[in-house]
Amino acid sequence: MKRLSTTQLLKRRAQGERLVMVTCYDATFARLVERAGADMILIGDSLGVVIQGHEHTIPVTLDEVIYHCRAVARGCAQPHLVGDLPFGSYQEALRSAMRLMKEGGVQSVKLEGGERVVESVARITAAGVPVVGHLGLTPQSVHQLGGYGLQARTEAAAARLLADAVALQEAGAFALVLEGIPAPLAAQVTARLSIPTIGIGAGPECGGQVLVLYDLLGLDERFTPKFLKKYDDLSTRVTGAVSRYAAEVREGSFPGPEHTRQG
Ligand code: KIV
Repeated sequence: MKRLSTTQLLKRRAQGERLVMVTCYDATFARLVERAGADMILIGDSLGVVIQGHEHTIPVTLDEVIYHCRAVARGCAQPHLVGDLPFGSYQEALRSAMRLMKEGGVQSVKLEGGERVVESVARITAAGVPVVGHLGLTPQSVHQLGGYGLQARTEAAAARLLADAVALQEAGAFALVLEGIPAPLAAQVTARLSIPTIGIGAGPECGGQVLVLYDLLGLDERFTPKFLKKYDDLSTRVTGAVSRYAAEVREGSFPGPEHTRQG
């Protein structure tokens, strides 16, 4: 089975479908996410938080993103894979994007920011690498933004974001992640652009949605932002399963006869 191309994704959107993107970092989950029918898998630098246990995405390296891209690529055949350019990889943005594609096996790359990355976006797309933009709450700028709160709340900031969105589209981005902005602004950007917007904490009017897989599965009971819907409570279920295993090992009831070979 061939991977979904940008052309096929854009066709789906043009036919009125909302694009389904989810993050993923390993082969086992990639297989399940593919089976669930996701259009796009983002190998996000959120791996720095949910896999590596950092407070921010900033420590993540390009080599680490490539490592996880390869694992995801081995685990699924059809979803379109988007590799995230991590903090510190933009100085050589084209080379970094090419490494994600050649070594990581992704079909497109994502980078954060507006005006300051427009030139890079133009150069990367001109080299044949499809680009997803990312505006609003851009976690790599956490120290500039001063946290993970809602962005673009003033008229001036909203106008700047809209201008950035148009500039990214003109530079060749084929899709745009909108994170942590007021829903009416996301709706306005979505209406203004011809490329699809993909929202996270940006309301229902975007052309698609993205969530961090571990968040939607409810793997961290401490993480409860307003935008997040948990579709399961895996933190409870995983703890329960491992507790039952631990208890059975301690009491000697696992492995039982049905899990034991005699010859
Ligand atoms: O790194 C990531 O997972 C992301 C998404 C939250 C959009 O950038």
